[in-house]
Parts: sequence; structure tokens; C-alpha cells
Amino acid sequence: MSIAWQRCINPACASEFDVLQVLPKCPQCGNLLDVEYDWNRMRLPDRADHLGRTDAWPAGGPGAVSGVWRFGALLPFVPAEKRVTIGEGHTQLRISPAAAGYAGVKSANFRLQYEGLNPSGSFKDNGMAGAFSHAAMTGARIAACASTGNTSASLAAFAAASGLMRAIIFIGDGKIAYGKLSQALDYGAFTLLVRGDFDDAMARVQEVCAGEGLYLVNSVNPFRLEGQKTIMYRVLEGLDWRVPDWIVCPGGNLGNSSAFGKALCELHDHGLIAKLPRLAVVNSAGAPTFSRLVNRHGLCWNGGRIDDDAIASYYAGLDDRGEKAHTLASAIEINRPVNLKKCLRAIERTNGVVLEATDQEILDAKAWIARDGLGCEPASAASVAGAKLLVERGVIDKDSLVVAILTGHQLKDPHATVAYHSHDERELCSEYGGFGVSSARYANRPFPVANSLGDIVDAIRKASGQK
Ligand code: F0G
Repeated sequence: MSIAWQRCINPACASEFDVLQVLPKCPQCGNLLDVEYDWNRMRLPDRADHLGRTDAWPAGGPGAVSGVWRFGALLPFVPAEKRVTIGEGHTQLRISPAAAGYAGVKSANFRLQYEGLNPSGSFKDNGMAGAFSHAAMTGARIAACASTGNTSASLAAFAAASGLMRAIIFIGDGKIAYGKLSQALDYGAFTLLVRGDFDDAMARVQEVCAGEGLYLVNSVNPFRLEGQKTIMYRVLEGLDWRVPDWIVCPGGNLGNSSAFGKALCELHDHGLIAKLPRLAVVNSAGAPTFSRLVNRHGLCWNGGRIDDDAIASYYAGLDDRGEKAHTLASAIEINRPVNLKKCLRAIERTNGVVLEATDQEILDAKAWIARDGLGCEPASAASVAGAKLLVERGVIDKDSLVVAILTGHQLKDPHATVAYHSHDERELCSEYGGFGVSSARYANRPFPVANSLGDIVDAIRKASGQK
């Protein structure tokens, strides 16, 4: 019996498959798959705080710089010599007084996990290390994904850096921030601009991968989620293995939140942490499927007996009304999240919550995050916007230990940032057309000035309160 295998998440099916099989879903019942391990055979340290210090690659090897593979003892689906890395996971857990004050949490108890520091600028590199290594293990020559931009940037970077595979990416035409598109193009990925949005691109890439035998690296791939689990390991490490009360993260395709749930439950089930943090998943109000299904339709994991009809009828309603996801937080502009069921499980197990933040709330939160010298893209700021809403609603106590995840770097989408800081309210409304953003209360406006020494000195003196 192998130390790792794949298993269907549907308890009524629970079919198991070899770790080397490439299966985007359970061939028996069509549900998602998990990666499972024989924990008795895993070589883990006695103390949780020694996790991550073990299983490092030999000094100088590429894994020595991987913040994913130094937790390889917890991810034994791939043999050490098959691990692929681009140096991902060197991220930071930052104290953030301005964002803490904005969210209403005691400053000493509020942290931002800054995943924008990954080589391709987003948290996706963690998961891609897992999926790409699995793809290489199975001998894949072409890997594909649909993306709102960060998954594709990450895949393109792994393909170019490793030289192991060709990358093909599916983007909803016009639905990607330029920073991300520039990465895919620059790294040489074959880039298809599909006329449609992310949900359309996701449907097409699944058909193409099934039909053409391409390796799919979207987060339906359970090995992606294994890599993404390491974000939680590094958060715990950053807190000296003190378990936070809350983890708050943005929700798009729901891979990240599902991976966090799996990571935390496994650590808890195997006695490596004493309690479970509560998970808060924040949708953009312009892409609210998960929040609506949970909060309005009462959808829940229910021991795996999920009300499939409720999901189908919600999607049918979207189709009838021609309703598409529409948010400035383009990374999470997704109305048919592929990991919905796994995330329901994560919410139930962690006693979690799901909520929505408007684009206005997201951009205002983003401006406060930046006051601590941390830049993120709009989708990432949904975490801090969500934390603030949960404090206001009395769900998060101001003394709680709260970690908000900043998923992507500010330079992914500079347009959104510059528009917020530069425009007056009328311009802002037209710039952000239809996103419901009408104020830039926390803007740091640039100051136009003539090319004249006198005018420039005057402007500086005026700004610093001198005559
Ligand atoms: N934040 C950023 C910056 C993202 O790029 C994404 C997802 C999310 C949050 C949401 O994470 O999907 O795991 O719930 N971006 C995907 C992409 C969809 O294609 O890059 P999720």
C-alpha cells in the first residue's frame, strides 16, 4: 500500500485511486478528489514547531529555497527527487497596525500573511509546486489551466523555469489585469483569450483537457491544494505555533480556503495543533455564489450529503437572468466555484463563516493595508474588508488573534490602485464603470505641478504645512 492515494470526497462513494492517476474528478460519481496519506508511516517530528525544519533538500539544492517542500514530510505524494520548485513560499506574516486599526482588531493580535512575495507574485505558486510536481511525476508534457490571471502566471513561470512542460492557458477575454497577462505572455505560455468570462474559460479548459489528454492544473486538481496547505503551516510557524482564532481569506474558486481547511483539520486530527481556527471566506458582492448559497439557501456540507438540487437551481437562476460575475476584484470574479463542496466541508469543520464585501469596501481596505507598506491587489484586500465587517457584526471579537491572507501583489493590478488614488469622485465612477465605487476616502492624491523650481518648492512647503 502506497503512503499516498486519492479518494473521492463524497462519503457515499469514497472510491480510491492511485496517486499516479490523472483524474480531474471521481470517475465513479463525478465529485472532487482529496489526497489522503497513511499518517502512521509519515516521518514527522514529535513537536509541531519542528515541522518545516525537517525534510529540507540538501544545502544548495533547489528545494533549499522552497517554502513548500521544506514541509515535504507532510506532503509525501511526491518523491523528493521529483519535486519541482521556483523558490516559492518565502512569504511573511506581518504585523499591520494600520490595517488592524481599520478592521477594529487589537494591533498586537492582527497579522497579514503576505503571499504577494512569491516568485510570480501570488499565493498560487504554493499550489503550483504541488500540481506541477505531480504533472511531472506522471510524465505530462502539456499543462493547462483557466485563470483570472494568477494561476496562469504561476503555471507559465513553472513551465518556463523548469523546461519540463508547455503551458496552455485560457483567459476570459478582457477579464484579466495587465500585470498578470504580461507574465503569461512574457514567460511564453500559449495564451488563449476566450470570448467569455472565467466561468466560460473554466468549462472549456476542462473539456479540452479531457478530450486532448492535457494535464489540468486548476484547483479541481487535488495536488494543487496540497501545495496551498503550506500557507497555513507558515502562518502557524510565524506565530510560533500559537493557533489563531480566525483565518480570513478571499474566496473565488474556493481552492485556497478548501486547502486551508484540509491543512488545519489534518494538523488537528493528528494532534499537531490543539484547536482549530475559524475560517472566514470573503466573496466579492459582485461574485457572491458561495455566500448566497450558504447564507440564503442554507447550503451546508451535511456529512457529505450536499443538496445538489439547490446548487443546480441557483446556477439555473443565474443563466435565466443572464447574470455574470462582475467585480473590480477581477481575481475572484467567479460565479461557479469549482471547489464549492470542499469549501462547505472546510466551513463546517472549522465552524467558519462566509460573507460578502462590496468593491468599495475592498478598495478602502486595500488603501489601509498599503499604509503599512504592503501592496496587494484588490481581491486580496477582501480579507481585511471581511475582517472589518465581521468585527462590526460582533462575530470576530476585537481581542481575537486574526490572520488575514493577502493573496496577490499590488503590481498585479496597478490600474485599480492608481485610479483610486488619482481620480475625483465623478471620474472614479466612470473609471470603475458599474462597480458601485463612488468614493476614494483614503486616497493619497498625486499633485500636478509646473516644471518650475518655485512651483515645486511651494507645493512641497504647502503640503508640509510651511508657509
Ligand atoms: N486572491 C487572488 C489574488 C487570486 O488570484 C485568487 C484566485 C483568489 C484570491 C481566490 O482564490 O480561487 O482559491 O478561492 N485566482 C484564480 C486564478 C481563480 O485563476 O488565478 P481561490
